[in-house]
This record gives sequence, structure tokens and C-alpha cells, in this order.
Amino acid sequence: MNPPGVAGAQKLTVAEPYLIEQKWDAYNEDQHAVWAELVRRRMPQLREHAAEEYLNGFEQIGLREDTIPNLAEVNKRLGPRTGWNATPVSGFLPPDAFFEMLGARQFPTTTYIRSRESMEYTPEPDIFHDVFGHVPMHAHPVFADFLQQYGRVSAGLMHDKEKLEKMGRLFWFTVEFGVIRQKGKVKLYGSGLISSHGEGTHVIEGRPEIRDFNLDQVMEQRFLVSEEQKVLYAVESFDEIYEAAQEAEKRLS
Ligand SMILES: [Fe+2]
Repeated sequence: MNPPGVAGAQKLTVAEPYLIEQKWDAYNEDQHAVWAELVRRRMPQLREHAAEEYLNGFEQIGLREDTIPNLAEVNKRLGPRTGWNATPVSGFLPPDAFFEMLGARQFPTTTYIRSRESMEYTPEPDIFHDVFGHVPMHAHPVFADFLQQYGRVSAGLMHDKEKLEKMGRLFWFTVEFGVIRQKGKVKLYGSGLISSHGEGTHVIEGRPEIRDFNLDQVMEQRFLVSEEQKVLYAVESFDEIYEAAQEAEKRLS
């Protein structure tokens, strides 16, 4: 594990061809305005229904409502906390490159922002999903350790499609669509729920069945990317997902 403060120290090999620079000065006013509109649309709901760790992370990494984040600035705040970096990449990564980056505490981050025509949903991830949705949680030490462990375990399973599918489900029901019980309520922390008004509202209105987090069940739980989720898994604390990633290594490696 990289100690905090040495983010990015590990050299990437498989992911290297996908690394790019974020040209922050090249965003135009309208693109910043799209970011601002997306953030302003999500924040009222999230202030009430997001996990406190997400909201704290948002402040700690210095995200702003009015401008697209400059990843270099985000990393100056994030790196010293947990050793994670939001690292700009050209788009979707093949699994081995993706896992290599997670194992090195570098989160593959797209720099493109969606157009006004697809405010609610983009099939390709964009900087709003990746940074607004994912990166605040990387400021939380336990979540940070969990995500690195997840990457390491998955990288070791590249030869086994079935086991990788189980790991994919663990990712889906935590990192992307995870919820946590806090003060007697179900709170959002998964990036798919944080960054999508429709998905977040679906959960708040009580439509999916919320089960207690259980690694065995999660690893067998099929899901459809294209539909609103019917079942979600709630943890009581982030220690549970960290332990799940440890347990996954024991069972699958
Ligand atoms: Fe995501």
C-alpha cells in the first residue's frame, strides 16, 4: 500500500497507453455551466440523503459547484489524505488496465463532460460521473483501502472469467450502487446513485428492495446496467466492504 502523500509513485505499465493530460484551460464556459447545472441539481437531494463520508469528501477535496474540477488541484488535497489520485484517462479501460490503476491508488478519470442533450444519462462515463460520483469517497481512509484491495484482488483473477464476474458484482453493489445505513436511514454512497438524479430518486422513494450486505449474495446477484436497480445491499459501516474485499481474496485467489 502506498503511504499517504506518495500518490502516483507507482509506475503503470498496462494502463500507460490510456493516460492523458487534462487540458483544464480548454473547457469553455458552456462546459463549466453544464457541470454547475449538474451539481446544483444533485446537491439538495444529496445533502439530505448522501452518506456523511461522501459529503465530507466533497468538501475535503475542494470540489466546487461552479467549475469543472482541475484534477491537479483535487489531487493536491486528496493525495496527502489517502494516497489516492484522480488520474486522467482517454475513456473506458480494459479490465487489466483498470485493475492495475486501482491497485496503484490511481482512479481512472475521464476528462470529457456530457453535452446538454444528455444531462441525465451518458452511456460513456464522463468527468461528472467519475469525479462528482466517485472521487469524494476516495478521501475516506477505509473506502480508500477497500478500493485498492479490490483492484489488487481483481488483477490477480484476470485468467478466470467466472471469478471476475463475481468481483464485478461486488464492484457494482458497492462502488457503483452502494448504500449505507446511518442514523436509521438508508444513505447513498455509490457513484451511480450519487451522480444520477433518476437513480438516486428511485432509492429515496423506496423502490428497490434493500437487503443487508452479504458477500455471498452479492457475488451471485445478477444485475442489468440498463435498468433501474431492483435490489441493493446496505452496509452498516465501510469496514464491511473492506472485510468483504479481504474475504474475496481468500475465497477466489
Ligand atoms: Fe462508475
